[in-house]
Amino acid sequence: MNFELSEEQLLIRQAARDFAQNDLLPGVIERDEKMHMPPEIYRKMGELGFMGMMTDTRYGGGGMDTISYVLAMEEISKVDNSASVAMSVNNSLVCWGLEEFGTEEQKKQYLEPLAKGEILGAFCLSEPEAGSDATHQRTTAIDKGDHYLLNGVKNWITNGSIASVYLVIAQSDVEKGHKGINALIVEKAWDGVEVGPKEHKMGIRASDTHSISFSDVKVPKENLLHKEGFGFKFAMKTLAGGRIGIAAQALGIASGAYERALQYSKEREAFGKPISNFQAIQFKLADMLTRIEAARALIYKAAWLKDQGEDYSMASSMAKVFASETAMWVTTEAVQVHGGYGYVKEFHVERLMRDAKITQIYEGTSEIQRIVISRSILRD
Ligand code: CAA
Repeated sequence: MNFELSEEQLLIRQAARDFAQNDLLPGVIERDEKMHMPPEIYRKMGELGFMGMMTDTRYGGGGMDTISYVLAMEEISKVDNSASVAMSVNNSLVCWGLEEFGTEEQKKQYLEPLAKGEILGAFCLSEPEAGSDATHQRTTAIDKGDHYLLNGVKNWITNGSIASVYLVIAQSDVEKGHKGINALIVEKAWDGVEVGPKEHKMGIRASDTHSISFSDVKVPKENLLHKEGFGFKFAMKTLAGGRIGIAAQALGIASGAYERALQYSKEREAFGKPISNFQAIQFKLADMLTRIEAARALIYKAAWLKDQGEDYSMASSMAKVFASETAMWVTTEAVQVHGGYGYVKEFHVERLMRDAKITQIYEGTSEIQRIVISRSILRD
């Protein structure tokens, strides 16, 4: 077993670290406060190759492995999780889904500009009444011969207003249950697509979260992904990879908070010496790093399984549930190490603590991950 990163992986990590420190750190507090991400940031992420990292170079992507993607996600998530969630959705859910299940025409038309970061994509599964219970889609895509007629509302959509392309999961045949669900490629510019107001969130506040409604949207038949009735499996398979990305985001949040707590503990003095001299702080640092390294091992294992073409669904859920709970725990401890300073914005750890919470919720709550894991255990 080799735990060493390759030259190429180290370079990618360094590039992501440089981008995060030089381009994302300045202004991150203001962007969080104003709930706004300037479009130049997404554009630069695309130019640097962060928006289609794993997509084949034939389709404008970076052709990199999943470990490289995890390394970049971690570095960017140490600083700005509004940026990293956009990156995660575009890479893992949209580009991966299109590359794996799209036709050559769909890849040429949609995947190429998405992987190059020229446009952004969004993944529309959740609905006001279908979050965890994803088989119960109320959005309908009725077969009208040469097109589907799409009606319904999706919510919590990351990149909702800035995406040009949506992958939409919708029910086409209620009688068939989840086997009647389709996945469709929908363009935001089409008639009947309407973007709702931006959500006012606890964390990842600058990320672009909206509801999207579809009213009699005509989706051409050639925009069906893979085949009729594959939409639910498409969503599950895509989310299995997406969960590795969110686990890497949680890892970045945890390691970003840990690094700040470590630094602060060496600088801050109390009772005549740096607080890192006290075991109360030392034990916290020891526990933080131990949990971070355990999360990292689970994430790398899931990424490695994916790159080997093995089944990674249980591994990605294990990585996500453990990393997101680690992020919540580590950020809470990092605030504690900072004392009162941890509770104000300038020291960054309060934002990371708020950002950590969403990693336990999106792309399947911690409870959903435990369902996936326990079903895998009991099936084998
Ligand atoms: N790969 C392939 N097929 C899969 C699969 C996988 N990983 N997981 C399930 N399936 C298949 C099953 O085999 C089954 O197929 P058959 O009937 O042919 O055997 C079918 O899908 C239905 O599966 P279940 O019976 O297990 O379905 P369920 O209703 O019990 O639900 C669930 C399973 C795990 C709870 C699922 O609904 C789920 O993951 N829910 C959470 C959804 C989610 O993660 N939402 C996040 C929204 S996206 C987001 O957050 C993006 C963003 O913007 C950041």
